[in-house]
Amino acid sequence: MAPIVLAMSGASGAVYGKEIFDRLVAARVETHLVITATAQVILKDEMDIPPGYFNRAGVTVHDNGRYDVPIASGSFLTAGMVVAPCSMGCLARIASGVSTDLLERAADVHLKERRPLILVPRETPLSDIHLENMLRISRAGGTILPAMPAFTHRPKTIEELAAFIAGRVFDHLKLPQDFTPRYTG
Ligand SMILES: Cc1cc2nc3c(=O)[nH]c(=O)nc-3n(C[C@H](O)[C@H](O)[C@H](O)COP(=O)(O)O)c2cc1C
Repeated sequence: MAPIVLAMSGASGAVYGKEIFDRLVAARVETHLVITATAQVILKDEMDIPPGYFNRAGVTVHDNGRYDVPIASGSFLTAGMVVAPCSMGCLARIASGVSTDLLERAADVHLKERRPLILVPRETPLSDIHLENMLRISRAGGTILPAMPAFTHRPKTIEELAAFIAGRVFDHLKLPQDFTPRYTG
């Protein structure tokens, strides 16, 4: 299959990005990774994860300040992009189409090419501006998949909560997964 673009921006909830990353690597999905400067700080603060963690086989780690890479172009085929966690600042910039860094440009490309773009925002409460930006992205074809894990399956750990969200992201990327418990009534 075509590669996936995974981006992490500067919101709390580094565990969501890490969980999706680990699952993509485990599934041997070719991954293009972009991590903003603030996301790198948060990965260290929340999880003690250094940048070197992401250097794995099948993973291309991009410099968020450079546009001269394949994922900045619509001619490079991908199966979709996910931004997890997605800050409100990042979401606003994607909604406005400004493409001030590689992450935003890659997201812009996914919208214009009508490919899956899944944003996993983490903020609470939400202002009218946040909500309007989400609606704008949704109307442009993106998917807003908030970091709101369910509790129906009685999760015991943070990893279980993150796995729930990772599984829903996989579902929307049409990647097979069995790590989200499926409600059977
Ligand atoms: C420790 C830390 C935690 C943050 N948590 C959030 C958050 O949960 N949600 C959010 O929208 N912004 C959060 N921010 C603010 C964003 O990082 C900032 O507004 C901006 O979007 C950063 O750009 P980036 O998302 O492209 O990295 C946080 C910033 C810091 C330093």
